[in-house]
Amino acid sequence: MPQPNRMESREPVINMVGNGVCLGPLDRKLLPLYNLWNNDLQTTRTLASMRPVILEEEILAFDQIMNAKEYLFFTIYEKETLTPIGNTYLSDIDFKNRKAEFNIVIGDHSVRGKGYGTEVTKLVLDYSFQILGLHNIFLRVLEYNKGAIHAYEKAGFKECGRRRQAHFLGGKYWDTIFMDCLSTEFESVLIKDELGL
Ligand SMILES: CC(C)(COP(=O)(O)OP(=O)(O)OC[C@H]1O[C@@H](n2cnc3c(N)ncnc32)[C@H](O)[C@@H]1OP(=O)(O)O)[C@@H](O)C(=O)NCCC(=O)NCCS
Repeated sequence: MPQPNRMESREPVINMVGNGVCLGPLDRKLLPLYNLWNNDLQTTRTLASMRPVILEEEILAFDQIMNAKEYLFFTIYEKETLTPIGNTYLSDIDFKNRKAEFNIVIGDHSVRGKGYGTEVTKLVLDYSFQILGLHNIFLRVLEYNKGAIHAYEKAGFKECGRRRQAHFLGGKYWDTIFMDCLSTEFESVLIKDELGL
């Protein structure tokens, strides 16, 4: 897919291109869409918070994130259609200890289960290790989020611990599983090719 590089292009700005997805910067115009995803129980049921989020909060967070060095956000696009389908980000980026936390939301239900979550996870790991020079990427996932756990394992994450019964939903307590991936355990898939290395 050609990189749009002209001002008249209506295509979104893209940083990385995978097989099925592309990653680009956050886009202020898409805040109402991000806000829909963040209020959809079918998406937030597997996230830490399920409270309503108003658009103004989303705008405020966007402005704060833009200036925060410990965060790095991408919009996820489906490659074929260039439709925005979700967000992924690193939080708590710590360049001294070379670690960060991985997060992902595919807000568009119709494209889940097609391998996109796995590919995004690999792309962000690759970016973290090859470009940012990070060494340990960590994540938290709820034990009933089986699809996410499977996608993370396929991408290279391994369970490294759990906090028992730390999340309440549907009348039950669920474990929060911790997973991590080291730079030394990860084989660069796309970025080395893309950088011509
Ligand atoms: C979690 C999420 C990113 C996964 O994205 P995705 O594109 O659906 O993931 P993939 O298609 O790459 O992989 C999912 C895998 O889990 C499998 N899977 C799905 N449901 C499953 C279940 N109940 N049990 C076991 N495996 C399951 C799928 O078959 C697929 O494996 P396969 O490719 O080997 O067939 C996406 O569902 C999402 O954004 N959910 C809402 C927000 C969220 O939970 N974010 C993560 C918080 S930790």
